[in-house]
Amino acid sequence: MPSVSCALAAAAALLLANPVAGGVMPPPRDVARYKWLVNAGSNASEPQQVHASFGEDPMTSLQFVWSTRTAADTILRFGEAGKPMTSIANGTSTPFDEPVQFIHRAAATGLRAGTTYSYVVGSPAGGWSNVSTMTTAPVPGSPEAGALVFAVYGDMGLDNERSLAWLVKDVEAGAFDAVLHVGDLGYDLDSDGGLRGDAFMNSIAPITARVPYHTMPGNHEIEGGTFKAYRSRFWMPASNDALYHSIDVGNAHFSMISSEMYFAISEYGLLMMPEQFTWLEKDLAAVDRTKSPWLVLMLHRPMYCQDDDSQGDACHTLTNPTRVGYFGQYALEPLLLKYGVDLVVGAHEHFLGLSKVLYNNNASTAAMSNQTDGSILFRNPGAPVHILAGSAGCPERLDVLSPTQPEWSAGAWDVYGYGYLSFPSASRATWSFRNDTDGSIINRLEFQQDHHGPFAA
Ligand SMILES: [Fe+2]
Repeated sequence: MPSVSCALAAAAALLLANPVAGGVMPPPRDVARYKWLVNAGSNASEPQQVHASFGEDPMTSLQFVWSTRTAADTILRFGEAGKPMTSIANGTSTPFDEPVQFIHRAAATGLRAGTTYSYVVGSPAGGWSNVSTMTTAPVPGSPEAGALVFAVYGDMGLDNERSLAWLVKDVEAGAFDAVLHVGDLGYDLDSDGGLRGDAFMNSIAPITARVPYHTMPGNHEIEGGTFKAYRSRFWMPASNDALYHSIDVGNAHFSMISSEMYFAISEYGLLMMPEQFTWLEKDLAAVDRTKSPWLVLMLHRPMYCQDDDSQGDACHTLTNPTRVGYFGQYALEPLLLKYGVDLVVGAHEHFLGLSKVLYNNNASTAAMSNQTDGSILFRNPGAPVHILAGSAGCPERLDVLSPTQPEWSAGAWDVYGYGYLSFPSASRATWSFRNDTDGSIINRLEFQQDHHGPFAA
C-alpha cells in the first residue's frame, strides 16, 4: 500500500484537472437584481441578511449573524417571547470586502431549552432589525423533540430558486423548525463581486431570521479553496469555519461535513481531508445514542446517484472517494456501519433520489414494505438508507435521470422541492418531500429502528 502522503499526492494530481462539476454557470441575467434587496436606500448601518444557527449547545444557545454596509456596533437584544428584550449580548464585527460591508456575530447563551425568544440585532446608532423570534432545541425525548421538523435541501441559488416561495410560506406557518442546507448556496456567493451573495442572503432572510439555518459547503462555495464568502457569511457552532460541524437537536445527531475535501484536494491542500475524517470519526464515536438515537450524515456530494452520467460525477462510479476513500484511506462508507448511521443525505445532483437499504453497492429490500397509506416503511434496516435532495432550485436546472436505474435505487424523481425530516421518537423517523411544481407531498417514508448502534458488517 502506498504511503498516505503518496496516495494523497497521486489523488491530487488526478484531481487537478477535475473541473467543478454540476454544469455550466449561466451569465448573470440581471445584475441590478443583485443589489441589496432589503432596506435598499435606507440607513447604511441598518442590519441586513439576519440569520442564525443553533449554538454549541442547541438547547441553551443560539448564534446570530448579520451585515451592515457601514461600521456599526454589534448588539443582540433578546428575551423570552412576550416579555421585554432585556438581555443583551455584545458581539464582534469583521470587515468584508466583496462587496464592502461589516459582518456581525453575536451569541445568546444561558437560554432555556425548547423556548422561543424574541430578538433584535443592530445598534442604537445604526438601527435595529425587525423584531423576530428564534426557538432553542427542546430536551431530547420530550414531546417537543418528537414534533421537530427539519427542512432539508441542497442546491438552492438565486436564479430559479423554485423552493424559496414554498419555504417562506412554510416557515410563516411554522411547518418546520430548522433548515439543513446540504451545500451549494447562492450560485455563487462571491459572484458579481459578492452582490449575488448579498442578494441570496437577503432572499433567504425571511427563513433564516425565523429558524436556525445550518449549512455545509458544496462545490459552489469553494472559491479557489478559500471558501471566503462562505466562511465569512456563515457561522456554525464549534466548527472549522463552518466547513464541518455537528449538532444534537431533538432526537437526532446531525454530522454535516464537506464532501469537497475529497474532490478539491488541489485547492484544499492535502491535510483537510484527513483532518475532517479524524474529526468525523471522533464525532460519531462520541454520540450518546440514548440521548440522540438517530444518526444522520449529511454531505453535499452524494455517495450514490441515479441521474445520467453526462457530467461524469463520482457518484456514478464504484470508486467514489467519499465511499471508498483514496487507496483505502479516509473512506466514509465503512463509518456508516461502524457507528450505525441511519440516514445519509446528499445533494449536488438536481433531483430527488431514494436508495434501498444500501452498503458497498449492495442493496436489500428485506426491511422495506409498502404501507396502505402509500408510504414506504423501513423496519430495522441493517445498513443506511441514502436520500438525495439536490433540487431546491438553481440556475443549472434539473438533471436528467438515467433511463436505466441502478439496482440499489428505490426511486428517483425529477422534481424541484425539499424534504421534511422528523424523529417522532427514539424508534421512529419520517421523511417526505414537497414537490414545488404543484405543492404536493411525495416520497413519504417511515423508519423504525428498535436498537440503535453499529450495524453488523
Ligand atoms: Fe454541487
